[in-house]
Amino acid sequence: MNILASLQTNQMIPEKYKQMSREELEARVFEVKNKLGSRLFIPGHHYQKDEVIQFADATGDSLKLAQVSAENTDAEFIVFCGVHFMAETADILTSEKQKVFLPDMRAGCSMADMADIQQTERAWEMLQGIFGDTILPLTYVNSTAAIKSFVGANGGATVTSSNAETMVKWAFDQKERILFLPDQHLGRNTAADLGIGLDEMAIWNPISHTLEYEGVVSRIKVILWKGHCSVHENFTVKNVIDIRYQYPDMKIIVHPECRREVVELADMAGSTSYIINAIETAEPGSKWAIGTEMNLVKRLIKNHPEQQILSLNPHMCPCLTMNRIDLPHLVWSLDTLEDENNQNIIKVSDEIAENAKVALEKMLLHS
Ligand code: 13P
Ligand code: SF4
Repeated sequence: MNILASLQTNQMIPEKYKQMSREELEARVFEVKNKLGSRLFIPGHHYQKDEVIQFADATGDSLKLAQVSAENTDAEFIVFCGVHFMAETADILTSEKQKVFLPDMRAGCSMADMADIQQTERAWEMLQGIFGDTILPLTYVNSTAAIKSFVGANGGATVTSSNAETMVKWAFDQKERILFLPDQHLGRNTAADLGIGLDEMAIWNPISHTLEYEGVVSRIKVILWKGHCSVHENFTVKNVIDIRYQYPDMKIIVHPECRREVVELADMAGSTSYIINAIETAEPGSKWAIGTEMNLVKRLIKNHPEQQILSLNPHMCPCLTMNRIDLPHLVWSLDTLEDENNQNIIKVSDEIAENAKVALEKMLLHS
């Protein structure tokens, strides 16, 4: 569901939750967690606010949260502290008797909204016309369940930023070319790291419905969907130049959702978990400029006073949709788990879930 559609169906949080103090809200979360025990499971993505992540039963990047959701067969109520596509993934990977809730239905992802299923089917038809049956579709998990289902139905798989390289290699064992949805930057960075030239990559523009490339069409190996993360696109070459000038001995580490030019100039690039691991295992006193979401950067600064850490972009903001999940919404969600007309349940239709699960399971098998 895109952000507009979710706004239309969104049931507003009752005023009383906004009036409660932080202490009251926290006490209520403890109370519900104690009462429900293992019937309740709260996964939390690393980009969530501290006020929320403190209550997560498992924290992780997209890959880890997909894995822990698939492994948890006990919890009746899964309250997903992350964004819509992550909750959909959890629903697809869990059983019928488990219910997945998103505390605020407005917590979408602008990148996932950049590829809809109609655009994708149209693109596929045209690309098949140009390249014949030589393309395998891969989708970043940051996509709708319908896109995952399309990919699964066409022999492909999902990827996350932790396993993109493995999955792209796997895809090239199946077919000559890949269509990579919906993040052009993760697709380009991964393919380039595997030695594929920029002249062997084309961009599919879903708005003009055209293939953008230079050179000879038959040389194209990777077709990148023209989507991006509105958070990570905000890291620029100028940010890198400024840091190099001000702190010549500072290491720059970025997420592969950043533009190619930024990744090329950085010292290191990797998923959210890779970045956390690099900071946790670094020598005390080392200096880091991090190019990723701000809630995580702030947490790393707080948890690692032994390092000097700052954001690669000094004017960076948190991901606005991740930030929709706050303590009042978490409490509201916990208070209404058993309500008959609960509007915050994430339920992917069986028709879509079937092939989406095929795509997700291929990824989990190779991770
Ligand atoms: P990872 O969790 O795979 O690092 O992805 C980052 C992200 O943007 C999640 O929305
Ligand atoms: Fe989507 Fe980017 Fe926010 Fe992740 S950080 S949820 S990709 S907008």
